[in-house]
Amino acid sequence: MTAKIMDGKAVAEKIRAKVKAEVANLKTKPGLAAILVGENPASKVYVDIKRKTCDEVGIYSELYKLPEETTEKELLQLIGRLNKSEKIHGILVQLPLPRRINEEKVLEAIALEKDVDGFSLVNVGRLASGREAAVPCTPKGVIRLLEEYGIDLAWKNAVVIGRSNIVGKPTALLLLNRNATVTICHSKTADLPHYTKKADILVAAAGKPKLVKADMVKEGAVVIDVGINRVEGKLVGDVDFASVKEKASYITPVPGGVGPMTVAMLIENTLERYKEITRRK
Ligand code: GUN
Repeated sequence: MTAKIMDGKAVAEKIRAKVKAEVANLKTKPGLAAILVGENPASKVYVDIKRKTCDEVGIYSELYKLPEETTEKELLQLIGRLNKSEKIHGILVQLPLPRRINEEKVLEAIALEKDVDGFSLVNVGRLASGREAAVPCTPKGVIRLLEEYGIDLAWKNAVVIGRSNIVGKPTALLLLNRNATVTICHSKTADLPHYTKKADILVAAAGKPKLVKADMVKEGAVVIDVGINRVEGKLVGDVDFASVKEKASYITPVPGGVGPMTVAMLIENTLERYKEITRRK
């Protein structure tokens, strides 16, 4: 079997167009504040793309590029100001933060109604209890892609490789909430192929280039590659695309799969935060 390629770029473009049309009809603009601390090169690229996409769809944005030595107190003060800003409806702190800054404390400082990433404990709890509110962008993008291609999740075995708070865990919860039977594998899973070979839906979010080979994949599986790894100047996913595409029924490419969906979900989430805030006023 040769897999159908899931075109995240095209689906994301459709979502951006929908957000743009909706924003054009609003009396005021939704606003997103993105905060980047330090010099992580990948994070710099991501926040620049996020900002550019906001411009493209008519969302107001503020980008704070703070030096590596920024203190936790300074960061909390900035979040405090943004929480009060009338122009801002979503606040995003790009992760990872420098190690000396307490990530949980920073994420909890964001006003709940402006938690555009869904990383606050309340929103994590809502997701875990099946009452999804603001949902993290990459996991939401994975689910949206599956929906766009008409892939049902009930009765399916879904295996997620990776247990991060940003991708692995929330993706597993979203799949579970949609009636998939979910297994989470990680770096200390004994015999990873034993699990992946049973997966009807396989989501790779381990951050390990080409971890998933064809012999680990069930014939006809749907394979979603969340990995973005730079190897010798080239972007490669967590899936060995060339071999796995001959066995899967659907597969996402890297780049052009999940990546553009993450940004599309961020602008959709920003619009949702805006609507929630303005509705309550
Ligand atoms: N770092 C990697 N992915 C993400 C994301 O979706 N949001 C934020 N804030 N940081 C990230």
